[in-house]
Amino acid sequence: MKTLRQYLDETACEEPLKDLIELIAYQSIPIRDAFIDNQSYAGTENTYGEEQAALDKWADDHIISVLGKSGFVKAIASEEQADIVRFPDAFGDYAVVMDPLDGSSLIQVNLAVGTIVGIYRGGDALQKGEDLAVAMYMLYGPMTVLTITVGGGVYTFALDSDGIFVLLKENVRIPEGTLFGSGGIRNEWLPGHHDFISLCEQKGGKLRYSGSFVADFHQILTYGGIYCYPAARGKPEGKLRLVFEANPIGFIAKQAGGAISDGTQDLLTVLPEKPDHRTPIYVGSKSLIDAAESCMKEHN
Ligand code: F6P
Ligand code: MG
Repeated sequence: MKTLRQYLDETACEEPLKDLIELIAYQSIPIRDAFIDNQSYAGTENTYGEEQAALDKWADDHIISVLGKSGFVKAIASEEQADIVRFPDAFGDYAVVMDPLDGSSLIQVNLAVGTIVGIYRGGDALQKGEDLAVAMYMLYGPMTVLTITVGGGVYTFALDSDGIFVLLKENVRIPEGTLFGSGGIRNEWLPGHHDFISLCEQKGGKLRYSGSFVADFHQILTYGGIYCYPAARGKPEGKLRLVFEANPIGFIAKQAGGAISDGTQDLLTVLPEKPDHRTPIYVGSKSLIDAAESCMKEHN
């Protein structure tokens, strides 16, 4: 079975980037081990005023400490940090963007959650999604699965009983499926989004929405369809974050033949204004992204 390292050795990635990818991927082991002691809330809020789960904080502190010590990384933009964390003395020149524990409201109910990561060359964390060198996520479900792209297609690996990531699927492509899931409160949705969800229902699509972006996206990547977190009345920017969530997941979607949009434009072409830049999100099968954009356009 091909290991993560053997796969990386077949790509054009430079050695320090391969080392950094492996270092991050294998943090899934201590993060998974920390679930049992970090089930409560931490009693703190992140920059968004959201209550932090203990594991959010644990995973954030842990990854920042490991990457800081590694010397590979000049900057980290984390969903759990108000400002970019900088390591001016690092010998490496990478910038990492991350949501250390996505879907954290599901920790206490033991449903799948994950860690979302993007890596840029050049030490600047506020770049366009299309300029990512690497996008990856580790999904903590019944198995620990790593989904990764370094720009040459999407690959998934599973952590085996020896603690090694082994290849599960190569060249993953998003099928043109009909699953759909939308965040937000229905009576706060805008008319274009209402129309789009009606269209999904008319096409015979099934609703799938868990409350964990990374887990819901993994399902869309496998079966096809769309994940949405839309703009809402009084909340034109939606809920999710461009830098830590939309860009890495969108980059994977695009590499798998899918797309990501805010309803009007390809999100990967948007330059982040600040670390906590929020955006409406539509991500998944290409034809459904086109359909979502058409519905939004009709109400503009
Ligand atoms: O990180 C934001 C997030 O937790 C996503 O993982 C998830 O899809 C969404 O928010 C859930 O939001 P809500 O509870 O409003 O459905
Ligand atoms: Mg998140």
